[in-house]
Amino acid sequence: MIRYAILTAGGDTPALNATICGAVERANSLKIEMIGIIRGFAGIHDPKVPHVRLNPLFTTIPELTPFMGGTLLGASRTYIDPDQTEVMAEIRHRLEILKIDGMICIGGDGTINGMQPLSEFFPCVLAPKTIDNDLGLNYSDEVNELTFDESENGGRRHPGKTPGRPVIGLDEIVNYVTPGFATAVFVVVQGVERIRTTAESHRRIAIIEVMGRDSGFIPLGSSYGQPDIILIPEVPLDMDRLEQRIAELYDLQKHVVIVLGEGVSDQDGRQLGAATKSYDPAGNIIFSGAAEELKRLLCKRFGDDFFGTRRKHESADSAIFTRKVGHTQRGGFPIKFDRFHAVQLGGKAVDLLIEGRNNAIATLQWSQEKGFFPDSLMANKLRDQWGKIHPRHVHPSFYDAQRFQPSLLGKNYLRSVLTGAIGAEDVEQIRADMFSPGKLSTRYQSVNIDIQRRIETIRE
Ligand code: F6P
Repeated sequence: MIRYAILTAGGDTPALNATICGAVERANSLKIEMIGIIRGFAGIHDPKVPHVRLNPLFTTIPELTPFMGGTLLGASRTYIDPDQTEVMAEIRHRLEILKIDGMICIGGDGTINGMQPLSEFFPCVLAPKTIDNDLGLNYSDEVNELTFDESENGGRRHPGKTPGRPVIGLDEIVNYVTPGFATAVFVVVQGVERIRTTAESHRRIAIIEVMGRDSGFIPLGSSYGQPDIILIPEVPLDMDRLEQRIAELYDLQKHVVIVLGEGVSDQDGRQLGAATKSYDPAGNIIFSGAAEELKRLLCKRFGDDFFGTRRKHESADSAIFTRKVGHTQRGGFPIKFDRFHAVQLGGKAVDLLIEGRNNAIATLQWSQEKGFFPDSLMANKLRDQWGKIHPRHVHPSFYDAQRFQPSLLGKNYLRSVLTGAIGAEDVEQIRADMFSPGKLSTRYQSVNIDIQRRIETIRE
């Protein structure tokens, strides 16, 4: 009997259960036992390794459905440090007790770093997830062209210093898009559209901060909400040009909607709003305060006079407001695109384990002729010559920095992913579920309660 384990690491996405479901369904058809480790890598750090059987008698447990956001296994940002040799030996021992033949880690670039040391003694593959869409490469050789300077910009890659290729073909992109991204864009676009009408009515400047860390795919995707200005982390903020564009737009339409990626930096590479850097357990910078900082800069530049002369009794502080879309863009049910491809990638991850492709990643590729299709890549292909995995950045050819909008190629990329990404069933789900009368008489039923009843532990 073959037995695989699966875990969800890093921040959650709406498509995680769909990926788990795809893996379990594939395992069912091959009569493979699948166990889910609770709370990502934290679960294997726990001496008891809490876990659940996801397919007793090769039938998927009813709690697992691709329509539900989040992860029924729970996620954590705890990671594996290969330098802690004693801890590594303990983890190895525990996984041996569990009699697992291989493991699927659902995660992003940070998860690959955690998976790598495990794969030295144990077959592991990655099924990709991230709303940031930053797992992959713009073209296969990109990683060999990166410059990386630890001393500068807190060790983050400085986009201005990356030579790279000026133009790419869309079908060259490695891991074209990651489940979770389309749903995040779906949420952001609704947010932008809703902020628009209130900014318009009150004649205000709205700054909407969206997630994505160092990568600007989510802000780029927000263009479906037709914001006036999109600022992505890949392009350092040009305050003079921005001020000029905002003034033009404000005079023309009496309000402005700006979408700002949380990782946007100034011309010196300093991240907006990050007065002191704080890190999560996986060593990622926690992004905070970019929108507030941009507001402060704009208030200083425009001053109260700009607004006072155009609209009486209005200060810069009250005319400019900020909103974070925040974790709503990571939560809730996944839209059709994410569900469908997440299921495919979960299945592909099982195939990779069966084929013995240790340390491989299931990827989603796209070509004009074939559309989307699952594929794979060895994780090391994402590492630079210093062994580092970098977030994929929005390629310069995707963004028009003069107009603060996606370029033609950027729009073509978005069209290939998002046209038809919402299914009729997604719309029906909202119609039927949102104001369902029964919701007023029942409490929210957390999947955690049902899963808790199924959790087993090992005895050492
Ligand atoms: O990487 C996914 C992501 O949602 C980022 O876009 C964001 O910066 C971060 O996670 C937020 O993490 P947390 O939920 O741990 O605060």
